Amino acid sequence: MSNQWHLDSWRDFPAAQQPEYPDLKEVEQVLAELRQQPPLVFAGECRKLKKKLADVAVGKAFLLQGGDCAEQFSQNHAKIIREKLRIILQMAVVLTYGSLKPVVKVGRIAGQYAKPRSKPMERVNGVEMASYKGDSINSVEADFDARVPDPQRMLRAYHQSASTLNLLRAFTHGGYADLNMVNAWNLQFVKNSPLGQHYEDLATEIHRTLKFIEACGIDSRRFPQLNQVDLYTSHEGLVLGFEAALTRCDSLTQNWYNVGAHMVWIGDRTRQLDGAHVEYFRGINNPIGMKVGPSCSADELMKLIDALNPNNEAGRLVLITRFGASKIERMLPKLIRKVKENGRKVVWTCDPMHGNTFNADTGHKTRRFSDILQELTLFFKLHRAEGTVPGGVHFELTGDNVTECLGGVEDLKEEHLANAYETACDPRLNAAQSLEMAFKIAEMLREDA
Ligand code: PEP
Ligand code: CO
Repeated sequence: MSNQWHLDSWRDFPAAQQPEYPDLKEVEQVLAELRQQPPLVFAGECRKLKKKLADVAVGKAFLLQGGDCAEQFSQNHAKIIREKLRIILQMAVVLTYGSLKPVVKVGRIAGQYAKPRSKPMERVNGVEMASYKGDSINSVEADFDARVPDPQRMLRAYHQSASTLNLLRAFTHGGYADLNMVNAWNLQFVKNSPLGQHYEDLATEIHRTLKFIEACGIDSRRFPQLNQVDLYTSHEGLVLGFEAALTRCDSLTQNWYNVGAHMVWIGDRTRQLDGAHVEYFRGINNPIGMKVGPSCSADELMKLIDALNPNNEAGRLVLITRFGASKIERMLPKLIRKVKENGRKVVWTCDPMHGNTFNADTGHKTRRFSDILQELTLFFKLHRAEGTVPGGVHFELTGDNVTECLGGVEDLKEEHLANAYETACDPRLNAAQSLEMAFKIAEMLREDA
C-alpha cells in the first residue's frame, strides 16, 4: 500500500462482499445525502477510546465488546435497546469486580446492519434468492424481491443508528447506569435462578461498598465514574460506500475519522491485503478491529499490521481472533510469537463465537456454550504461556431470553432452539448465558488480579 490514501482511494482496489445494487445512480444519490448528515460520534470520543484501548493492550484494562450479530430495523424499541445495554452493564460489573481493572465497554450496536455471507445465494422453500446481508442492504424476509439490495436502506440504517445512540447516551449518562442501580438491573431478570442469585450476591456486596464509601463522607453521586458509563459503539465496516460517506476530516486535528461509530472492524472475509477494505481502514484514525480466523498466516498478519498500524500506535489495532475451540491451540501461539518478536503493539481479544458455529439437526445455526467457554479458556491460557496480554472478549449476545445457543446454566438442548430463535443471522448468547459467561471470565481474570 504505497499509494497516497484519500477518501476514495479504496475504489481502486477490489472490494469483497459489496451489495450488487440494480440502480447505481440511486446509490450515488443516497451516498450524497449521507454525506450531508451530521456525525453520530465525535473524533474526540474516538481518541478517548483509543487511549483506553492502549491501556487494554498492556493489561491495565479489559475490553468487553458485544451485541447482536445483526441489528434489525424492527428491533428498535426502547425496551430492547435497554435490555442490550443492561446485560452489557451487568457483565461489565462482574468483570470489573473479578479483574479489579476498568472494563472498556464497546457495543456491537447503533450501526451493526451489514453482514458478510459465505454464500451469496440461498434456497428457501425451493426458491433461489440472494442471502440476507443485513438490514442496511436487503430484507431478512424470504422473498426474492425483498432480497434485492435497496440503497434507501442505508439512509434508514443511519437514522436508526442515530436514534439508538441517542437513547444509549441518555441511559448511560442519565441515571440508568448508576452503580447504585446494580441491584435494580437484576429485577425482572434471572433473580430466582442460581445465576441471578450469584449476581445478586455480588450486587449486594457492591451496594455495601458504596454505602461504606458514603459513610466515610464521600457522596458517590458526585463522581461520574460511579454514576455514568461510557459505552462505545462499533460495527463491521463492510459496505465501503456507506462507511466513506460517514468519514469526515476532524477540524481539530485535520485527521480522517469514521463518524458512524467509535470503532469499526474488518471482517475475516474482507481483510485481503490488496483489497479495498484494508485500503479504506488504513486511512481512518478511529481505533479499528480486525477479525483473524484460521486462514490468516503469521506473515500475512504482520503485513496487515504494517498496513493498518504503520506507526505502531498503542490502542489503534484490536486483533479479534476467532479460530474455534478445536483450532485455537494450533493457530494462536504462532501469531502471538510473530507479533511479539516484532514488537507490535496490539490489543488481543477473543471472539469465541464465529469459529464454533454448526447446524443442529433441527436446521438451526447454533453454538455450544461449552465450546465458547473452551475457546476462551484456551485464549487466556495460551496468552499467559507466551507472556502476552489476553485483553478482551467479543460476543454475540442479547439481553433477551432467546434460545439460540446450546447449554449454559439452563442446559438448553436442540429441541429448545425453536422456542425463541429470533436472530436475523448468527446465534447469540441469551441474558443468562451471557451473565454466566461473565462469571466464568471473571474467575479467569481473578487469577491475575
Ligand atoms: C461477525 O462478527 O458477525 C462476523 C461475520 O465475523 P467474522 O468476520 O469473524 O466471520
Ligand atoms: Co456473526
